[in-house]
Amino acid sequence: MCGIIGYSGDQNAVDILVDGLQSLEYRGYDSAGIAVFYEDHIQVVKAMGKLQNMKRIIEEKGSDFRSNCGIGHTRWATHGKPSDVNSHPHGTENLTLVHNGIIENYLELKEKLIEENHYRFQSETDTEVAAKLIDSFYLTHRDPFRAITQALPLLRGSYAFGIVFKDFPGTIFAVRKDSPLICALDDTGYYIASDIPAVLKRTNRYYTLMEGEIAVVTASGIEFFDSEHRPITKEIKTADWDFQAAEKGNFPHFMLKEIMEQPEVVEKTVSAHVKDGLPDLGVEGLSDEELKAFHRIIFVACGTAMHAGMVGKAIIESLARIPVNVEIASEFRYNNPVLYPDDLVVVISQSGETADTLAVLRLAKSRGCKTFAVVNVVGSSIAREADSVMYTMAGPEIAVASTKAYSSQVCAMCIFALKLALLHQPQLTEQVRLYTKELLTQIPYFVSAIVNESDKIRYIAESFKDARDLFFIGRGIDYALSMEGSLKLKEISYVHSEAYAAGELKHGTISLITEGTPVIAIATGDECYEKMISNMKEVKARGAKIIFITKYGAPGAEQISDRTIYLPHCSEIFMPLIAVPVMQLFAYHVSVLRGCDVDKPRNLAKSVTVE
Ligand code: M6R
Repeated sequence: MCGIIGYSGDQNAVDILVDGLQSLEYRGYDSAGIAVFYEDHIQVVKAMGKLQNMKRIIEEKGSDFRSNCGIGHTRWATHGKPSDVNSHPHGTENLTLVHNGIIENYLELKEKLIEENHYRFQSETDTEVAAKLIDSFYLTHRDPFRAITQALPLLRGSYAFGIVFKDFPGTIFAVRKDSPLICALDDTGYYIASDIPAVLKRTNRYYTLMEGEIAVVTASGIEFFDSEHRPITKEIKTADWDFQAAEKGNFPHFMLKEIMEQPEVVEKTVSAHVKDGLPDLGVEGLSDEELKAFHRIIFVACGTAMHAGMVGKAIIESLARIPVNVEIASEFRYNNPVLYPDDLVVVISQSGETADTLAVLRLAKSRGCKTFAVVNVVGSSIAREADSVMYTMAGPEIAVASTKAYSSQVCAMCIFALKLALLHQPQLTEQVRLYTKELLTQIPYFVSAIVNESDKIRYIAESFKDARDLFFIGRGIDYALSMEGSLKLKEISYVHSEAYAAGELKHGTISLITEGTPVIAIATGDECYEKMISNMKEVKARGAKIIFITKYGAPGAEQISDRTIYLPHCSEIFMPLIAVPVMQLFAYHVSVLRGCDVDKPRNLAKSVTVE
């Protein structure tokens, strides 16, 4: 949700900023802009739409347009529609800034700034208000640090700012609250960025900027201060993601590359959490005794991560027999949730920066609950703030549609469930050992077999690409999978799609089924298989065209369906890992066939850092 980059060093900042924005574009692509120190002023170049539009303007400026310091921004519009004038950077004649976040009291501040300081505003953005507010202080003493620290307490909401002042060439000021920002360094200079992939091509050495800290970045170093201007010493961290992982390579889209990476991701995530043949969360701050003492687990997450939590619930309840609630973060936090000290609140997040999930984590902590995070991005806000953290090993996920991160989250759910089963059902220890072995040795191999079916799935997708509405149905764990399949399809192909618990159809939804309506039915388990066949017959009788995802040898599969996709046999609790690539590939191919922008679907951004 908006991406920020900044550089000060001995290389050409224009190239570095453009490159960084390219890597950050998945955080928003409504507009792009940069501001660089050029000759004796700050030169801003910005344009609505994808980065390409801004790049064209820079190219027209020719090779003399160089600088050693600047800031850049890629926007996901919140306040004010996508337009040139609403594009970042924003500023005054003294300063220019880029912003990720939302200033909630911007209207009130704007009125004051107009009335008392006689500012004129060009854009509809909250960001321009923040720029002018800082400027109003700066005008009185010309001290950037003081101006920033005077303005910040007046801002309500979330922000990560990169700020440059005309009178301080080569210097970037950076600060954050509830929006991510890192600082990084290489042999040529110093960076600020919304996340690590933005700089990964150049460096994997970085510092995390904590809430309220201010970084002062120049070509000769980065200094960190608290709001009282007291220096802070920080440790450099090293990201273990290599830059190839954030590159498309020979694949036409990041999404396809990331789908194909799943066998490796599953293997990596599981093997990092197995010890002596048994599940091992490998987390600090949570002993087995403590884990066993929780009477209820509450999973809280958004979107795909929430769907992974639904799979987790099904497996934990079936193996460990302890109750699990799954909650949508944005709903949970405002519903005055009932939380007990013996609840374990587990937040799941790829980015570790999702605003609603982070807010629930803080709420749970404030209510005295122990918190546990399942996170992909090391050093992210959620990873830093949770009491204990279990890392998924998906590596950087660039496509907006989550694929390999989901699989890694489901792996984490499996390990978590197996661990709880060990603690709560010790008589299952040998069974848990067998499950762990299967997860580690066979499942990656089966996932690989499925992703290699891409051509077959593409062939099926061709017949369904023009659908207006499409339904996913399943029961139990397959209903959780249906939710994910449906989200994937609508997110990237814009085909309207809904997921229904198959048994619920007769209670309303079946009225939507007419001649030719596509229905994707998922039946990976035995217990409800016959019930699913009945539900499929019901929709078939009303004209549905059925794609059936089920296990090899499933009785009557081909008689009832129009197309069948078979999955290898494995334990039912692991079936989501094998079935989900089918739905990801289906969504991917439908999206490509419809000519959609697969990696950057309209209106979306990868990291939702605003509420
Ligand atoms: O970074 P997070 O896992 O917290 O993100 C949560 C959702 O925004 C995310 O899973 C979203 O639903 C996916 N992009 C959908 O593919």
